[in-house]
Amino acid sequence: MTPEAEFSEAVSGLAPIALRTAATLRLADHIAAGHNTATLLADRIGADSDVLGRVLRFLVVRGVFGEPEPDVFALTPLSVTLLDGHPSKLCAWLDEGGIGGRMDTATRALTVAVRTGRSPYASIHGDTFYQDLAKYRSGPDFNTLRQSHSESFADEITAVFPWEGVQHVVDVGGGTGAFPEALMRRYSGLHTTLVDLPDAVAAAVRRITAAGLEKRFTAAPGSFFHPLPSGADVYTLINVLHNWNDDDAVRILRRCAEAADRNSTVVVVERLIDGADQRAITTMDLRMLLLLSGKERSLTQLRGVAEAAGLVHGQRSATAVGLDWVTFHTSGTQQPAADNRARGPSVLSQEFGSDIR
Ligand SMILES: C[S@@+](CC[C@H](N)C(=O)[O-])C[C@H]1O[C@@H](n2cnc3c(N)ncnc32)[C@H](O)[C@@H]1O
Repeated sequence: MTPEAEFSEAVSGLAPIALRTAATLRLADHIAAGHNTATLLADRIGADSDVLGRVLRFLVVRGVFGEPEPDVFALTPLSVTLLDGHPSKLCAWLDEGGIGGRMDTATRALTVAVRTGRSPYASIHGDTFYQDLAKYRSGPDFNTLRQSHSESFADEITAVFPWEGVQHVVDVGGGTGAFPEALMRRYSGLHTTLVDLPDAVAAAVRRITAAGLEKRFTAAPGSFFHPLPSGADVYTLINVLHNWNDDDAVRILRRCAEAADRNSTVVVVERLIDGADQRAITTMDLRMLLLLSGKERSLTQLRGVAEAAGLVHGQRSATAVGLDWVTFHTSGTQQPAADNRARGPSVLSQEFGSDIR
């Protein structure tokens, strides 16, 4: 391909859209079920067979589907990932009617974000990203779609820290609980508390209960902009801070610093901007901008926001899954938080309220 042809292919933007059409119409599943001609598929989904055949051929040329004989379509390794039951949940992410479709709309407003320096999400959808997610009820939700991603690294990231002797970990913005589950499975004396918005915490409770670990788990539905349970040995923020601009990142870290005591460790786990996989990192950096006004940070930038929150000594370690693990300790200058140590989950959940930004 000449550079001009390559450029023309890249800017046409048709491939990402045709893939979303294939996902939205569940073409891979219908082909796998034997509806493998344009006519059979069109009958099945109620579509125009001529146009559908043209879209399929566009995708065949790009390796998404095969065409072993004229007008007979087959799956390729690429379209296998589009099957509804595939663990990547790619089909649901690409479904134009789902939460991924709402995210894509914001992605297309990059020029607006460049002009304003902020996420265009609220101006497009009327609510900020997490407010919108909390209202969205018409397909698989964000927590369900993210679950397999969280599971893919939960075990590996436990490997870089000396957990022996750690009794209580608060996972701040812990999502659906894959990391607390991995930790408690590995360390039988360890107790975890998960702070997240109510839907995520409810999913985490289901996961932890199914794993039989609920006796060592405290659910703390609420906002990490509010006071956190105090006195834990370790506070983890996994893929959380990059969602937020510097002011909000300082606010969240300050809540950790207030809740931590002199011997606690606050751990930030996410990809730092100079990591090896620059394609993935720069993609995530723009995605954070577009969805949340967030950003990927360098170690220096992360230490800067941490220091503004009263956390010092940021030490970086690598994990086997490309995420960076950065530990901080309190500088001893922050105000102590109200003592939530001895309280149960129901008391915490009343106090936290829901402050979704
Ligand atoms: C990118 S996800 C990371 C989840 C999990 N730590 C992981 O790595 O799989 C960010 C999490 O922050 C949570 N979150 C967003 N706003 C929050 C708030 N104000 N208070 C608590 N959690 C919040 C989201 O619900 C989501 O679970």
